[in-house]
Amino acid sequence: MPATVDLSTIPTVTGFFDESSNTISYIVQDPDSAACAIIDPVMEFDQASGRLTHDSADQMIAFIQEKNLQLEWVIETHVHADHLSGAPYIQEHLGGKIGIGKHVQTVQDTFGKIFNEGTEFQRDGSQFDALFEDGDTYQVGAMSCFALHTPGHTPACMVHVMGNAGFAGDTLFMPDGGSARADFPGGDAGQLYDSIQRVLSLPDDLRLFMCHDYGPGGRAIAWETTVAEQKENNIHVGGGKTREDFIKFRTERDAQLAVPKLILPSLQVNMRGGEVPADKDGNMMLKTPVNKL
Ligand SMILES: [Fe+2]
Repeated sequence: MPATVDLSTIPTVTGFFDESSNTISYIVQDPDSAACAIIDPVMEFDQASGRLTHDSADQMIAFIQEKNLQLEWVIETHVHADHLSGAPYIQEHLGGKIGIGKHVQTVQDTFGKIFNEGTEFQRDGSQFDALFEDGDTYQVGAMSCFALHTPGHTPACMVHVMGNAGFAGDTLFMPDGGSARADFPGGDAGQLYDSIQRVLSLPDDLRLFMCHDYGPGGRAIAWETTVAEQKENNIHVGGGKTREDFIKFRTERDAQLAVPKLILPSLQVNMRGGEVPADKDGNMMLKTPVNKL
C-alpha cells in the first residue's frame, strides 16, 4: 500500500446530487484549516438545445464562499462518460488545481482517434494541472491525501483517500448497487475486480463515498458507506465472490446496458479537462462520430 490511511483525520464531506446524471459531487473540508477540495463537479448540458448551465457548480461555489473556505484542488476521479465536468468553471471562480490520473493520456489517445481529433488536441494530459500516479500523495491544507490507481471501469480511474474518507469514483457503487460497468473502450472487468480488491484492502473503517447512485429498488439516494460494509454486503464482489464469477457476471450485464445519454459530449469535454472544443472561429462545437462506439 503506497501511503497509510490516517483514520484520525476526519474531514467534513458534503455531497451535491445531480439528478440528471445521478452523480454525486463532493466538497471535502480539512478539519484543521479552511482548505477544501472538490471531487467530480458537474456541468449540466441539455443535448436537444446544446445549452450548458452551471447550477450545480454555482451551488458548490456559494457553499465555499459562504464558509470562507479556500479551494485547493478540483479532483476528477476519472474521465466521466455520463456527465460533463464543471471543473474549469469552478477554477475560474475559486482557483485551485485540477487533477486527474496520469492514464488520462490513454483515454485521450483512444478517444482522440474515435473523434478524429487533429494534432491540436494534446494527448499528454497537459489540459490538467496535475497528473496523479499510483500512490502519489498531496495535501489539502494540513490533511494528507493519496491517490490509488484503480483501472477497469476506465484506464485512468483513481480512488482518492483524504483522512478517513475515500472517494471511490466508479470503482464501486453502494453495496446494493454493486459495481460500475467495464465495457467502455479501455475498460476491463478483470482489472476492475482487482482494483476493487485494492479498495477493499483499505481499513474497514474508511468511509467510502460513491460517485453515482441510482437508488436500486426504489430506495432513497445514498452515497456513503464503509470498506467493511462493502466487503460484507456488496452484491457484485462482497462475501468472497471470485474473480471468475465477477468477470462472467459483469460481461453479461454490460452487454445489456444502454450507452449513457451524454457519452459523446461528455468524453469530448472531459478528455480536455472540462473545456468545450471550439471550431476554427472559436465557437464551442461538439461532434457526433457515426458508428464508432
Ligand atoms: Fe464513470
